[in-house]
Amino acid sequence: MEYQHTPVLLKEVLAVLQPQEGQRFIDATLGSGGYTLALAKAVGPTGLIVSFDLDPLAIQAVREKLSHENIQNVLLINDNFANLTEALKKQGLEGPFNGIVLDLGLSSAQLADANRGFSFEHDGPLDMAFGPGSPRSTSEIVNHWTESELRHIIRDYGEEPWAGPLARAIVRRRRYQPITRTKELVEIVEQVLPPSYIARSRHHPATKLFQALRIATNEELENLTSVLNQSLSLLCSHGRIVAITFHSLEDRIVKHFFLRESKDCLCPPEFPICQCGHHAQLKIIYRHPLRASEAEKAVNPRARSAKLRAASKLN
Ligand SMILES: C[S@@+](CC[C@H](N)C(=O)[O-])C[C@H]1O[C@@H](n2cnc3c(N)ncnc32)[C@H](O)[C@@H]1O
Repeated sequence: MEYQHTPVLLKEVLAVLQPQEGQRFIDATLGSGGYTLALAKAVGPTGLIVSFDLDPLAIQAVREKLSHENIQNVLLINDNFANLTEALKKQGLEGPFNGIVLDLGLSSAQLADANRGFSFEHDGPLDMAFGPGSPRSTSEIVNHWTESELRHIIRDYGEEPWAGPLARAIVRRRRYQPITRTKELVEIVEQVLPPSYIARSRHHPATKLFQALRIATNEELENLTSVLNQSLSLLCSHGRIVAITFHSLEDRIVKHFFLRESKDCLCPPEFPICQCGHHAQLKIIYRHPLRASEAEKAVNPRARSAKLRAASKLN
């Protein structure tokens, strides 16, 4: 059975990108192809959509959809978006593009597949890589990183106040035998977190630990910073960049990047004359991030935490 998927904030993404016949866009996070297909239809046969995903299964599934719908203006690239410029160069494409969209994190299809190890609701192997060739495995982090390294990522990437006790419990448990299943992590969380804390939380108690491990496995924050930096030289004048994030760490990176690149000088305020020579390259489109409508949140739970930020290239 084909997995049904509704792209988050699709209408809002299209409203920002305003795709026109013959234009070229990059979808850095293909997933189930919701944005890619909509953009491909809007730019028509003379346009081009270049779509990246680390996950070969996502690429394969969308390839089939494209062929089924006879859409021929999409180039699918099974690579990390952190390799954006290099991968485009290999295809003889150096830009400029009319827009770039990033819909971060994991897809509903990845979450729904217990074998991918992303889910705390279904037991699966401890593997949270978006695709092969990820810098490290989740199992390596859980079974070999020191207690202090574990505490650090659970606190910084999961924003989990119980990072210390969780790291200690993971280290204690793996002394007997390696931790290999997601269920074991969920058990640790349930043993460590106080019932009152769990009862107060709006999310599953393992959400923060899983988020931390996924970010560390895939180096998500480093990849995001890298793709944002590369995006500037790939956009045409007035080209637009849209980023949809699902937690505050990613949102902060996008927000600060847009803020920095929309300023002419980055010198400390006490400097009488600019010494950095920095020039604004972006104009922020929305001061505050767009959120999904109540109607969308009601039908698509993933939309609840989505934040959309957008900016356009100055010239
Ligand atoms: C939220 S989904 C995208 C959903 C998509 N907008 C749609 O309409 O179906 C995010 C996708 O980005 C991919 N991804 C995450 N980090 C990546 C990276 N660094 N490079 C390439 N793909 C990445 C994931 O494998 C996942 O398929």
